[in-house]
Amino acid sequence: MDTVTTIAAVRAQVQRWRSEGLRVAFVPTMGNLHEGHMSLIEAARRHGERFVASIFVNPMQFGPNEDFAHYPRTPREDERMLAQAGCSLMFMPDVTEIYPNGAERATRIEVPGLSRILDGEFRPGFFEGVSTVVAKLFHIVEPDVAVFGEKDFQQLTIIRRMVADLCMPIEIVGAPTVRDADGLAMSSRNQYLTAAERALAPRIYQALQAAAARLKAGDVDFASIERGGFEKLGSAGFQPDYFCVRKADDLAAATAAAPELVILTAARIGKARLIDNVQVRRG
Ligand code: PAJ
Repeated sequence: MDTVTTIAAVRAQVQRWRSEGLRVAFVPTMGNLHEGHMSLIEAARRHGERFVASIFVNPMQFGPNEDFAHYPRTPREDERMLAQAGCSLMFMPDVTEIYPNGAERATRIEVPGLSRILDGEFRPGFFEGVSTVVAKLFHIVEPDVAVFGEKDFQQLTIIRRMVADLCMPIEIVGAPTVRDADGLAMSSRNQYLTAAERALAPRIYQALQAAAARLKAGDVDFASIERGGFEKLGSAGFQPDYFCVRKADDLAAATAAAPELVILTAARIGKARLIDNVQVRRG
């Protein structure tokens, strides 16, 4: 595996592969890789012949009071894991390579509507930062296919919409959420949990599963299901931001007729803010 830090080096390598007719699959990440990220590399291997992973902690998607400075950075370990997983190229730019004029003044991409609801309501500017950096990375790598985790379901929905709206010739693949044995969705931010908080954390997935069971049983009282989940997390010791049932295709309000729903939640505990979701197919 080659490790490069410049846009020019990525372009040169990808152009060589293209001239050989090879299909390029791309996995963007912020590093501090875990099994969830590695499952995306696995999915990329099923969809392409050469694999690019990027590691870039994107300042534009962090709010002023968020954890940009403290976000865990483990580049050498990430490099080792990617090489072992058969990744072909690791792109690890510094901030000035991606934002030569500063992130604050850079041109931005916004997916309207979708980027302001759910997590976007609680993290203003977050999805603008995500769609902007992903658009930039797509222009740099020009992959045939890019893989994103369903763990960040709203992010995946926004990227799909951006690619469609901007006519980008890139296939977007969603990969299932990888969980610890007790159900907690893997995340770099799980490291912020104390032992006591870590013991409580699986309650998030349990609350989502309980809500999913009600939906599967035909319950269409979405407001009651949302209230039930929110209160369950509150009484377990979390400060939930939201617990919502939405249509899986566009995150609009759930309807009794929608065949595919998704339950999404974000809840804070101690220094951590955890997000998770469960999809429900009915009928
Ligand atoms: P990051 O949080 O590093 O996640 C990179 C990719 O890994 C995302 O597509 C995310 O959904 C996926 N992922 C994380 N945890 C997962 C898990 N437990 N199971 C399956 N997939 C998982 O998401 C970002 O970075 C950034 O917003 C990024 C898209 C790179 C833009 O900066």
